[in-house]
Amino acid sequence: MSAGLSGTPAIELRGLVKDFAVGLRGVKLRAVDHLSLRVEPGQVYGLLGPNGSGKSTTIKIILGLLEPTAGECTVFGVPGGRVEARLAVGYLPESPYFYRHLTGRELVQFYARICGLSGALLPARVAEVIGWVGLTEAADRRIGTYSKGMLQRIGLAQALVHDPRLVILDEPTAGVDPVGAAAISALILKLKAQGKTVLITSHLLAQIEDICDRVAILDRGQLILEGAVRELVGVADRQALVVEQLSAEQLGELRVWLAARGRTLESVEAPRARLDRIFLDHVGRPAPAKKEGGP
Ligand SMILES: Nc1ncnc2c1ncn2[C@@H]1O[C@H](COP(=O)(O)OP(=O)(O)OP(=O)(O)O)[C@@H](O)[C@H]1O
Ligand SMILES: [Mg+2]
Repeated sequence: MSAGLSGTPAIELRGLVKDFAVGLRGVKLRAVDHLSLRVEPGQVYGLLGPNGSGKSTTIKIILGLLEPTAGECTVFGVPGGRVEARLAVGYLPESPYFYRHLTGRELVQFYARICGLSGALLPARVAEVIGWVGLTEAADRRIGTYSKGMLQRIGLAQALVHDPRLVILDEPTAGVDPVGAAAISALILKLKAQGKTVLITSHLLAQIEDICDRVAILDRGQLILEGAVRELVGVADRQALVVEQLSAEQLGELRVWLAARGRTLESVEAPRARLDRIFLDHVGRPAPAKKEGGP
């Protein structure tokens, strides 16, 4: 039994419904449709689904930014909108909007103060989280000069600065290059190792598969599949073997050997490296330190 199963869940949604009034004559759009799920403390949990399936709406309800039409939502046992629930949560919104005239460091300091951090510890904590997201060199540049991926990363630093127990990341890798995406995956696993709970949405399913313990798949606001990633992707009764330089003759012998034992060789294919692996092998090294100009 995994830790937390009998305790208070990090997030619990029960029969959540969200209707938006759209158009004239009170036409309603059901964005979230009787959604129930539990995220246990310490889990990395992926919320998946096509565009418009209700992921961001669900997140906004968890954060208390939207009122549900029906149903319940608790964060560490208290209603999502309550102040103590909000302080326990770090949030990276999708398409984050930040003040362009601030530097990255000023932005993270600003959020740190909102969350009650102050005193001598604050600058050190701000520098630490900026280092986690790889923006130390660019920290004193104005956000208006940041690339799309850099904006996502400073948003991530902002979400982590107050050391929240629950981190909610709405598409943290949108617009981030493969090296940056791998760095974000590593950071999420580091948060998990610290015992944090992470709820993440992403359309990068390979990344989700690599880092998430469980996933929920939504479609038109409804939960269509939920479970442990290992169980969903694992094919329990098959094995794949990789053999070096097998000749056609040896392959024939192998088939005969297997047939004699009541087994069939179902497929023979050359293993392929994943393109992201090749990309990372070639450009994954940190860039050489260079002098950053002022803002
Ligand atoms: N404020 C709003 N007013 C009206 N409709 C809304 C509002 N916010 C979301 N919706 C609708 O609710 C549905 C779910 O939207 P949501 O943003 O939650 O989807 P999503 O799963 O996050 O999609 P994406 O992958 O594109 O980010 C969509 O049909 C959307 O148009
Ligand atoms: Mg969304």
